[in-house]
Amino acid sequence: MRFSQARARMRSSLIRELLKLAARPGVLSLAGGIPAPELFPMEALKAATRRALDRAGPAALQYSPTEGHPVVRRWVAERLGVDPDWVLVTSGSQQVLDLVARVVLDPGDPVVVESPTYMGGLLAMNPLAPRYRPVPADAQGLRPEELPGEAKLAYLLPNFQNPTGALLAAERRPAVVDWAREVDALVLEDDPYGHIHFDAPPPPPLFSHDRERVVYAGTFSKLVAPGLRIGYAVAAPPVLEALIQAKQAADLHTNILGQTILAELIEAGELAPLAEQVRGFYRRRRDRMVAALKRYLAEDVAFSVPGGGMFLWLRFPPGTDTRRLLEMALEEGVAFVPGEPFFAGEAYPSARLTFASVPEDAIEEGVRRLARAYRRYLEAT
Ligand SMILES: Cc1ncc(COP(=O)(O)O)c(C=O)c1O
Repeated sequence: MRFSQARARMRSSLIRELLKLAARPGVLSLAGGIPAPELFPMEALKAATRRALDRAGPAALQYSPTEGHPVVRRWVAERLGVDPDWVLVTSGSQQVLDLVARVVLDPGDPVVVESPTYMGGLLAMNPLAPRYRPVPADAQGLRPEELPGEAKLAYLLPNFQNPTGALLAAERRPAVVDWAREVDALVLEDDPYGHIHFDAPPPPPLFSHDRERVVYAGTFSKLVAPGLRIGYAVAAPPVLEALIQAKQAADLHTNILGQTILAELIEAGELAPLAEQVRGFYRRRRDRMVAALKRYLAEDVAFSVPGGGMFLWLRFPPGTDTRRLLEMALEEGVAFVPGEPFFAGEAYPSARLTFASVPEDAIEEGVRRLARAYRRYLEAT
């Protein structure tokens, strides 16, 4: 078969392969990246679906404008302090990453990414063949002084980053936007986790520092349910127009039944209490995982306590073979994600754990098994 060059740059994600192993009976998976299903507001969604069909009628099932449902656009616009004309409703925030890559990148263009970064962001950009410029991050997020002298796009996750859970410090945010202005880069700010804060809300987004230069991507996946596939882009009109045209080619518009159901939830005022519930739920799981790590692994492995989101990042001593460790962990009945695929450049030995989708009572046992695997690994090497 004669495929395109872009096809040759597509890869199946290692995580997808791993999740198959993690699904074996008896394996506690700290590897997934999915929300807890207990949080899906089933009853509210059933009622909202009925109302959506009753009130909108066939319009809930007809072709609809690419820009999105007016109620959803207005809700997003109010949160970001912009006009609803600045909002495009997308098929998940993953689509924003794909559309931005398509309208901005040519082969060889320099793209700043955090090191490590969200693997799905790399998957979206890879077909365009950019040149990645990975920038190191610490517990305060990306280090602005390490930003390079040129970039066309900067793909950044300032809030409770996937995979590290790090929050970009408030004082670093203006420096990042100033840098983007200096090198004339567009910033793609990916923020699926900002609303899942445990200790304090995150500082204002990069978008608030320069609305012309930053495209903000958000999602309802971690607030309502990912299967709705509803996310959004917020951008100044010239950028938004480019994204709308690219979206028309991709899928015409986002699933309108899902948007109409979501609009019903918004109008019934259900999102704010839901957000509170989501934060409390994941905060308890974060606390359980941190306590277990302190108890079983803190002597050997470095980690920082995430102030929000769904993930916790472990750093192993240099030379640790995390694939081998994963094999041993699976033997012990626990799965994690090795850090390597999250790096566009040089990787260091690391692992991503999730506390989001693991039953609260199983978190300690999962960490205990991981610690046992790590001890066995040390003895074997
Ligand atoms: C950092 C990040 N960006 C984007 C997405 C895509 O989410 P969705 O397309 O469901 O909005 C995810 C999903 O896990 C993510 O972790």
